[in-house]
Amino acid sequence: MMDHALDQSVRPEVSAHFDPATNTISYIVKDPASPSCAIIDSVMDIDYAAGRITYEHADAMIAEIRQRGLMLDWIIETHVHADHLSAAPYIQDQVGGMIGIGARIMEVQNTFGKIFNEGTEFQRDGSQFDMLFEDGDVYRIGQMRCLALHTPGHTPACMTHVIGDAAFVGDTLFMPDGGSARADFPGGDAGQLYDSIQRVLSLPDDTRLFMCHDYGPNGRDIRWETSVAEEKAHNIHVGGGKTREEFVRFRTERDAQLGMPRLIIPSLQVNMRAGEVPRDKDGRPMLKVPVNGL
Ligand SMILES: [Fe+2]
Repeated sequence: MMDHALDQSVRPEVSAHFDPATNTISYIVKDPASPSCAIIDSVMDIDYAAGRITYEHADAMIAEIRQRGLMLDWIIETHVHADHLSAAPYIQDQVGGMIGIGARIMEVQNTFGKIFNEGTEFQRDGSQFDMLFEDGDVYRIGQMRCLALHTPGHTPACMTHVIGDAAFVGDTLFMPDGGSARADFPGGDAGQLYDSIQRVLSLPDDTRLFMCHDYGPNGRDIRWETSVAEEKAHNIHVGGGKTREEFVRFRTERDAQLGMPRLIIPSLQVNMRAGEVPRDKDGRPMLKVPVNGL
């Protein structure tokens, strides 16, 4: 068992918001002992073909926070997502909260700053975020103590957030029948991903695990919650004692066959800026497409 100062008898209230356009699950995680909560991995809606951004998904989360009389302490990104846009600044404007991400965001900003040929006005020091979590950082949601764990592999800056008896794994793991996320984006590493998954699976067996994505493999209904015990026993990529070598070989072969996520181009540009849409020299919101750049 991992040595940390968390009280796993605390059972946060978890409310899930599923976005069918990107198969993302966003969460409101509430302290049972106070009105404090956090949002994890919010979504901003985009019609990419039309270049149109809207906020139905974020508005539903804001409405829930207001209706339940909650206080939003944190707006957490488990990583720089490549498949959906974060609504963090829009949510922060309306209901507050500190926007946090893993400290190695700087590497991600460096990598994609080059790919998108961003000028010097694009800071690569993580300063767009209010909090840069280091591995092992302990922070609070109301009275709950929370732990940030660095779980790289899918991206260099991925974090898993352990909150009471719940862990929000981002794209470290999928549901047992979904396996794991790809590790072939710039800065990704299948071996690191395996090690990070083992770290998550070293949490107590009954830890509730909440996924960032689910694609309903083999036609089953969308699900987002499982447990450490379930993943250890049944995960199709790492369960049943699969070795690091087996995982790396499988993951590398699989990744080579995957196309790019539909929204990777807008997602990276927005998410590496903590959810702000980039602006052109006249101050208008504008996205770029680097030709043959990814
Ligand atoms: Fe991701």
